[in-house]
Amino acid sequence: MPKFIITGGKALAGEIEVKGAKNLALKILPATLLTDEAVSIFNLPDIEDARRSIELLTGLGAEIKKTGPSSLDIQTKKIKNSELSPEFAKKFRASIMFVAPLLARLGEVKFPHPGGCVIGAGERPIDLFIEGFAALGAEIKVDGRFYHLKARRLRGAEYFFTTITVTGTEAMMMAAARAQGKTTLKNCALEPEISALAEYLNASGAKIKGAGSPTIVIEGVEKLSGGKFTIMPDRIETGTFAILAAAARAPLTITKCNPAHIESLLAVFKKIGVAYEAGSDWLKITPAKKFKSYSIKTHEYPGFPTDLQASFTVLMTQANGTSMIHETIHDRRLLYADMLSQMGANIIMCDPHRVVVNGPTRLFAKKLTSPDLRAGIAMIIAALIAQGETEIDNIYQIDRGYENICERLNKLGADIKRID
Ligand code: EPU
Repeated sequence: MPKFIITGGKALAGEIEVKGAKNLALKILPATLLTDEAVSIFNLPDIEDARRSIELLTGLGAEIKKTGPSSLDIQTKKIKNSELSPEFAKKFRASIMFVAPLLARLGEVKFPHPGGCVIGAGERPIDLFIEGFAALGAEIKVDGRFYHLKARRLRGAEYFFTTITVTGTEAMMMAAARAQGKTTLKNCALEPEISALAEYLNASGAKIKGAGSPTIVIEGVEKLSGGKFTIMPDRIETGTFAILAAAARAPLTITKCNPAHIESLLAVFKKIGVAYEAGSDWLKITPAKKFKSYSIKTHEYPGFPTDLQASFTVLMTQANGTSMIHETIHDRRLLYADMLSQMGANIIMCDPHRVVVNGPTRLFAKKLTSPDLRAGIAMIIAALIAQGETEIDNIYQIDRGYENICERLNKLGADIKRID
């Protein structure tokens, strides 16, 4: 099994560039199916999850041409089938993003409950997607673990999300873009990826208003066109590198990013004493030898992102004082805490959603496993500041969302070897 061997304690410094946003790429790629015209995509991150989406697209009949290191042309003149390959979909949560475009183009879609993610209680639910598609007039049948959705053309409707969901909001926005009539979505998620997806859809002829606010109004159109779209920088990568700089006391400049998307983290940096300077597309962290602890509670955007929670916990092991980390979005997202304790961190698990961290503590190398993508990158940060040689396996989880992470961190002075 491939693994990373990381020799900790190296001085890190320099410049690191942020890649395109994973959680936008995973929506734009399926959204290209909403039209039979060609779409050119730029700044696409070269990560496992994007490769899975490209494989799914190819299986459905898309013609895909690589036009540069991070750009593609995609055209799906005809969709070959209305069933999502269970082999892929069961292993890949973001496959759910293919449902709305297939339903809009073909009038039906069959798919298994998407899997592939350890976070979430047992299985991450899709009840709100199903309910939302039903509200838009889809006929829903459940056959074992398969869902079968049918609608000759979806109809506009009002739908209120009883839980705020990012991908749920995005799926309904895609479905409503080609429905007949007006759809009003209420209590929508506010993540920047949602506004960016709306921008892409509007540039293709959709009529979406209010994306980025709790109420989104969509006037359905019959046809969408092709076009060009550049994926915005990944805000979670930006925040992760900022946390790495603070934890490793490394003067880092993060480029090709949008610091405005990580305001909640930067507000915390101000409180704990980590200095930074920010421009519109760069962020420079000036490390502090000592910084204070701070308790966080994850929250929907613009609150503190769940996807930075694990890395922030590692940072708190180096802070002076006690902090509580409270995960409120996903279940099973504190599984890594035990590994940090084994590395020497002083962490008390209060309940499945909260840990208390007493810092500062020195960390020592260990043999680790990456439980999920975000915990995986947090383990890399921990290993980079630990004494000794840490081994991290199950790195597929890290490759899912971070492009060439080994090479990029090594350019800053890290010592990470990838053993395949
Ligand atoms: N939920 C339901 N029913 C549904 C859908 C969601 O109860 O039908 C619940 C979830 O169980 C969760 C809450 O709603 O408790 C919010 O989850 P959300 O649906 O917003 O998460 P998501 O859309 O599945 C996206 C990102 C996640 C990120 C969350 C929160 C993508 C592909 N994934 O997931 O990213 O953590 O929003 O910001 O956009 C990651 O990148 O590592 C990652 C997990």
